Amino acid sequence: MHPLEQLRVEALREIESATDEQTLETARIKYLGRSGSVSAWGEQMKSLAKDEKPIVGKLLNEVRTAVTAAIESRTAQFRSQKESGALSKIDISLPGTPREIGAFHPLTQMLERSIQIFRRMGFALADGPDVEDEWHCFDALNTPPDHPARNEQDTFYLPDGRLLRTHTSTVQIRTMQAAPPPIRVIAPGAAYRRDEVDATHSAQFHQIEGLYVDENVSVADLKGTLEFFMRELFGAETKVQFRPHHFPFTEPSLEIYVKSKALKRGEQWVEVCGCGVVHPAVFEAVNKARGDKAYDPEKWSGYAFGLGMDRLAMILFDIPDIRLFAQNDLRFLRQFA
Ligand code: DAH
Repeated sequence: MHPLEQLRVEALREIESATDEQTLETARIKYLGRSGSVSAWGEQMKSLAKDEKPIVGKLLNEVRTAVTAAIESRTAQFRSQKESGALSKIDISLPGTPREIGAFHPLTQMLERSIQIFRRMGFALADGPDVEDEWHCFDALNTPPDHPARNEQDTFYLPDGRLLRTHTSTVQIRTMQAAPPPIRVIAPGAAYRRDEVDATHSAQFHQIEGLYVDENVSVADLKGTLEFFMRELFGAETKVQFRPHHFPFTEPSLEIYVKSKALKRGEQWVEVCGCGVVHPAVFEAVNKARGDKAYDPEKWSGYAFGLGMDRLAMILFDIPDIRLFAQNDLRFLRQFA
């Protein structure tokens, strides 16, 4: 065997038995390095006889190619071993980071359902500020200065005399100031009162105000609309009762009670809404502010209503305590997801 072939056998064996990249590198230097044995044979070529040169040269090339290829393939082996070793440390059975999907707050769900029903009956959305002046909250709504609702104990007043609106009825006035009749709007929003906080009272609560002004509007229109609303919301079996009441801004005034077997409260009548036929004094206040006679009580009539959103949601979802709406307890909120 030619010594070069001997060298090839040796080199290949050593490369094959290298246990890591470091021993492999040592082998590479030993054979292919500048002063390695394969390179040394290159030097030796010069001193060979003329007829030997092509034979040995060819053999040397073969050996160099074989050793180089063996080192490359062993290097590749080590690399892939290393990678799969790293991969095996990743625990693919570990659960991923979950993306939590949110849900609407029960009050928002209630609001959306209610708005949908009124939209189908042609009501548009109206809006007004939570921080109001006394005129929009009381005077324009025919509520005299000595009315108990205006008492400091019942309302949050700001130092400048403004207040947090005690009801969404303020939006009735703002809507009529902004546009002449006919009017058909609902105004959802927050209202505030200095109530003692308990299971059914909160300093902040939510209402949907409604206002309909047209020619020849009567209590019958009011009843039809709100009965339809209650049945859409609570189910076709729902019984709706209208009881006489008093509000300064409506005449006559009514309170609506509902009762439905579908509800957890069963056969109990529950109050859900105040309503009535818009008082002529409200139209007159609006006319005065507008400086015209757009809301002539002889020509126009209307009905208004105020629905308690928190109350409706408590009935519909069987929620025992109004404070749950604002406590952000996920155990509560997740039940409505
Ligand atoms: N604003 C009244 C309240 O908060 C509810 C109400 C009663 C609104 C009669 C109305 C209405 O629009 O006509 O208690």
